[in-house]
Amino acid sequence: MTTETITLTVDGHEVQVPAGSTVLQACESLGIDIPTLCTDPRLKPYGACRMCVVEVQPGPPRPTASCTTPAAEGMTVVTNSDSIRDVRRHVIELQLQHHPLDCPYCDQAGTCELQDEVFDQKIHQSPYETVSKAHPEEVLNEVILLNHNRCILCGRCVRICDEQIGVHALDFVERAAGTFIAPAQHDFMDCERCGMCIETCPVGALLSKPFKHSARSWQTEKVASTCPHCSVGCSLLVESRHGDVVRTRTNGLEEPSRGLLCAKGFFGHSFVNSEKRITRPMVRRGGVLQPTTWSDALDVVSKGLQNVLDAHGPESVGVVGSPNTTNEDNYALLRFARAVLGTPNVYSQDSGMHATARTLRAVLGSSTGPHTQNELLESELILVIGADIGHTHNVLGAHIKQAARDDNRTLVVATRLASGLDKYATVAERIRPTAEATLLSSLAGTHSADIESLTGLDRESFEKIQGLVGEADSVAVVWDTGLWTLDRATRIAQAAANLALSRSGVRLFPLAERVNSVGTFQVGMAPDLLPGARSVEDSKARDDIGAVWNTSISPNPGLSFNEFISGPIKALYVMGEDVVGGALNSTEASAALLNAELVIVQDIFMNATAEAADVVLPGTSFAEKGGHFTNFEGRLGRIEPAIPPVGESRPDWEIVARIAAAMGSDFGWRSHEPISKELRELSTAPSIQGSGSSVPIDGALGPLDDNNSFVLTTEQHLYTAGVAGRHAPSLQTMLPEAVAELNPDDAGRLSISHGDPVRLASTAGEVNLKALVTARVPKGIVSLPDRFLEAPARQLDPRAPDGAVVRVSKG
Ligand code: SF4
Ligand code: SF4
Ligand code: SF4
Ligand code: FES
Repeated sequence: MTTETITLTVDGHEVQVPAGSTVLQACESLGIDIPTLCTDPRLKPYGACRMCVVEVQPGPPRPTASCTTPAAEGMTVVTNSDSIRDVRRHVIELQLQHHPLDCPYCDQAGTCELQDEVFDQKIHQSPYETVSKAHPEEVLNEVILLNHNRCILCGRCVRICDEQIGVHALDFVERAAGTFIAPAQHDFMDCERCGMCIETCPVGALLSKPFKHSARSWQTEKVASTCPHCSVGCSLLVESRHGDVVRTRTNGLEEPSRGLLCAKGFFGHSFVNSEKRITRPMVRRGGVLQPTTWSDALDVVSKGLQNVLDAHGPESVGVVGSPNTTNEDNYALLRFARAVLGTPNVYSQDSGMHATARTLRAVLGSSTGPHTQNELLESELILVIGADIGHTHNVLGAHIKQAARDDNRTLVVATRLASGLDKYATVAERIRPTAEATLLSSLAGTHSADIESLTGLDRESFEKIQGLVGEADSVAVVWDTGLWTLDRATRIAQAAANLALSRSGVRLFPLAERVNSVGTFQVGMAPDLLPGARSVEDSKARDDIGAVWNTSISPNPGLSFNEFISGPIKALYVMGEDVVGGALNSTEASAALLNAELVIVQDIFMNATAEAADVVLPGTSFAEKGGHFTNFEGRLGRIEPAIPPVGESRPDWEIVARIAAAMGSDFGWRSHEPISKELRELSTAPSIQGSGSSVPIDGALGPLDDNNSFVLTTEQHLYTAGVAGRHAPSLQTMLPEAVAELNPDDAGRLSISHGDPVRLASTAGEVNLKALVTARVPKGIVSLPDRFLEAPARQLDPRAPDGAVVRVSKG
């Protein structure tokens, strides 16, 4: 493919640029530095500030903005004449009329684009009468401050919120000299707290409240990393000072984040330096967990495990890895389990990703995924189904909005709650919880029952979606596999596979809930898997891997987790997970741990499992170690240590390797790199053929016949991030407590107002919390955010709370 190019001359140098480039881009390709204020590579050219002026021939007889002027064949550009320098100087002098030079106090100092220009042009004050704006610093919400006097009205905040986030929470207000930036809606209610307006602001007008006055930009150490919260796996820059992470920011424009973060990525790092971190090894003595030395703790663990192995055999020991930790951490634990302990009872707790991956592989084969984000965004039609991915995978949601708006993708949204994606969709419909698989299978023609009563969609809407899906050459089906898919992930995946089998051009994008759920599957953290997600029944895999591990691997899969904890459990080793809090039956899990002879927990915070442990070992967070997460596309996201380990904590892989060495098997690892290499070498898997079989899907929830009965939907909220979120103060201020969300009509009928206490009751139990009355919830549905310990949805249905029938009353 040839790309059309344009040849022009800049300051006497000839340059070729792709057709469609601006003059600014042509200058930059020659390394010529043109000052800009209103430009951001994430945004469309705007031309507001006039800093980037150049002279062009042929062109207007005056300096012209290079950022909005298209480069043309044969054009001659001058970038630094006297008249250009005069214009740029004048621009700065006008800005300084109201912009205070309060750089010693301003958080942006050191990265302020206006300060750079003031310095370069040696301007110390404006020649014009200075005019301060009347507005003081304004608190826009829990995390965003706006200093109007420093605002240069470049519009970058307004544009990034609109063009990239698809929210439009900020706007210009008033006119001419009285113009200022303000929330576009009452109470700034649409703001998603992504921080991108702060990130793009070239001056210190928009500021992060949590970061304010915590460091000067030149004092911080900066390390490239990956967001630890969801499976989009956005690129991050972690900034630290004196061993504390002080902020996280975007890092370049690469995939998958393309220069964006969400609230969790931008503000959700503060758990790293929480005072509640486990900082020392602890061993239970006299019934109480007591701090001890590493050598004592490792001695207790290695001898304790050996005793259990000697007394009860390897299959009495279970090992649990974690989608919160790296591939290297999980691989170290897997090798330890299978090669040192000799147990096949290896687990990773996960909502629905493992079940989804297994189903898709069994039906469609291994060559069908995962697909890249680019393939998703380039599909002619994007179907988002189930949970609102604007909450679960926010940055991907932002990219989808942009694809629908700017690239003419057809977006179809069929979610349980109203979504920020709706306004960009050709069709946006609400479906009832539990109806996701029925809808997908109906689109595939493998479900024939009454679509209206089972999904909540009327026939006309269904047929519209069916028509759009049928007409599109390529279709991306996107769904979150979070907690709401517990017990239903296989069914949804089979229904999605039915659709993929029914026609060509369908690609499936199951989105793992946690950052490394995909990684735990591919590493082989399951009783029937080996690295590369190869089956233990694959003799070549066993031979290849056994040769490196210097062991013989059994072809027999281990027990399921439930079979293990209700059966042979004598010792359990848990890394980065709360198996009690996350168990389908936490009472049973807790009893199993109490009866075990040895429970070892390696984590960064205490949880219900750690409280029951005999030994607690302090692991490190993503900010203190190296390694990789695997995102929803299968892309490796690298993390690097930004700060030293907090307290006496150590990287998870290192703790495991030290225990292995204490038990006589030194893996020889002194950093994570040889682990990455070993894992990579063992992960080459032969292609697996799928069955290619469609399966009829039926049995979604029927209609309700009682006015006080509601269908429960459990949703992951944008501002909740599991264990980490509970210990991240910034996220906690955004959603301090769980709320039951109700439609205004339902709330009115039950005389429930915003903030009232409400009781949700099912045949299994009840939950008491406050009401939030919101039109985002359809009538007949009550929504509960998952991951709140104080409002556990599982009390309403321990197996699959999503879709449970509950009665709602004022409490
Ligand atoms: S934080 Fe994000 S959503 Fe809120 S105003 Fe800024 S850019 Fe918009
Ligand atoms: S607040 Fe910042 S980004 Fe927004 S218009 Fe003002 S200077 Fe530009
Ligand atoms: S979308 Fe996911 S990975 Fe990206 S910043 Fe948000 S939580 Fe982090
Ligand atoms: S950078 Fe070109 S007008 Fe602002």
